[in-house]
Amino acid sequence: MDKGKKVLVVGSGGREHAIVKSLAKSPKVAEIFCAPGNAGIANDAKCLPIKVDDVEGLVNFAQRNHIDLTVIGPEAALVAGLADAMLQNDIRVFGPTKGATQIESSKEFAKMLMEKYGIPTGKYKSFSAFEDALDYVKKGSFPSVIKYDGLAAGKGVVIAQNLKDAEIALREMLHDHKFGDDKVIIEEFLEGPEFSFMCFVSGEKVYPLELAQDHKRAFDGDKGPNTGGMGAYSPVPFISEKVKNEALEKIMKPTAKALMDMGLPFCGVLYGGLILTQEGPKVIEFNARFGDPETEVVLPRLESDLFDFINYAIEGKGFIPQWSHDAVIGVVLASKGYPGSYKKGEEIKGLENIQTEVFHMGTAEMNGKFHVAGGRVLMVTAHGDDLPEAALNVEKEIKLIECPSLFHRTDIGKYVLNTESK
Ligand code: AMP
Ligand code: GLY
Repeated sequence: MDKGKKVLVVGSGGREHAIVKSLAKSPKVAEIFCAPGNAGIANDAKCLPIKVDDVEGLVNFAQRNHIDLTVIGPEAALVAGLADAMLQNDIRVFGPTKGATQIESSKEFAKMLMEKYGIPTGKYKSFSAFEDALDYVKKGSFPSVIKYDGLAAGKGVVIAQNLKDAEIALREMLHDHKFGDDKVIIEEFLEGPEFSFMCFVSGEKVYPLELAQDHKRAFDGDKGPNTGGMGAYSPVPFISEKVKNEALEKIMKPTAKALMDMGLPFCGVLYGGLILTQEGPKVIEFNARFGDPETEVVLPRLESDLFDFINYAIEGKGFIPQWSHDAVIGVVLASKGYPGSYKKGEEIKGLENIQTEVFHMGTAEMNGKFHVAGGRVLMVTAHGDDLPEAALNVEKEIKLIECPSLFHRTDIGKYVLNTESK
């Protein structure tokens, strides 16, 4: 008989908690480790004190413990070359090499690839000199989209409504070097509803997942500052099968093929941050990993075995995943003050009463009790026959949590447009 498999999940957020919980459902998986994990993940996996970019530490652990599969969550691990090191040591890994990760880590690389291979996206130009960039903006129209070219924790994009705002953003990025290195992309402003399309990719093979939409702004009505994500839902009713298929054929598959052609075969999750414009779906950004918080609402809808799905994908074998017809909404409970400063430490009461799945993002455990330990603290999810029902269910569950230092959005999944896309 096949002995139980050992899996290592790399990361410490709600996304990794969802991956761990989904893998735990597989009858083939005997043991799950998570590096470094978090207080909630510790209920579902053995957490290891190894940082996500400690490549040597993670490779050593996987080798010593005969890990059958490593799943990489965050971009920091990919950029550190964790997948490359795992592959060099013959460890099975789901996550792209550093070279293929450039589709996320370098906006210029992504734009160049899309231009070369005719993948629909906004027109752009890149700059490293402040004066040149400012000159270009002066000649263009507003809003103007200014993007720092590199990882800026979701804070490197400014939609400037006028010249003054554009100048402030350019000065910060190119003159004061707010995020480090110094390159920006100035992009055409695209209009339409956004959606997240994750696909498992292995070379030219592309396996689409169900769609989701996240909510990046801090407050109801998409107001307030950008955050790491305040909630998400799946499915996305305003994106028809036809549009999804168009996105698959014109965006996701050609991108996987382009990476192959460039000698950078991709293995892992290719995440398309897409926008449905009048001219059809276009790319806003690519990520080289599971989206957060989209993963927390997509994986709970997967009825197939995630361990099997990942392995079939790695091997490039045929696999058609089965999905539940349920709608799932996930709402983030964040610390008041987030994404600015906030206080940590308050006890979170009532978690034991929640009937649905809760993913931990930033909690600490002390004497069997959970406390606030981060900006985004928990994601409470609920299923329903449709999104309105899931929304009612998730509110009911959230009411069971007592922790005055947390806040959440009450409109996740409620802005769904009534109009079906063409
Ligand atoms: P990004 O980090 O590239 O995903 O950008 C963050 C957010 O900025 C996106 O989710 C969009 O809402 C917005 N955005 C980025 N690029 C554009 C664009 N070209 N046109 C309109 N909105 C954009
Ligand atoms: N939800 C957007 C991301 O994962 O970057």
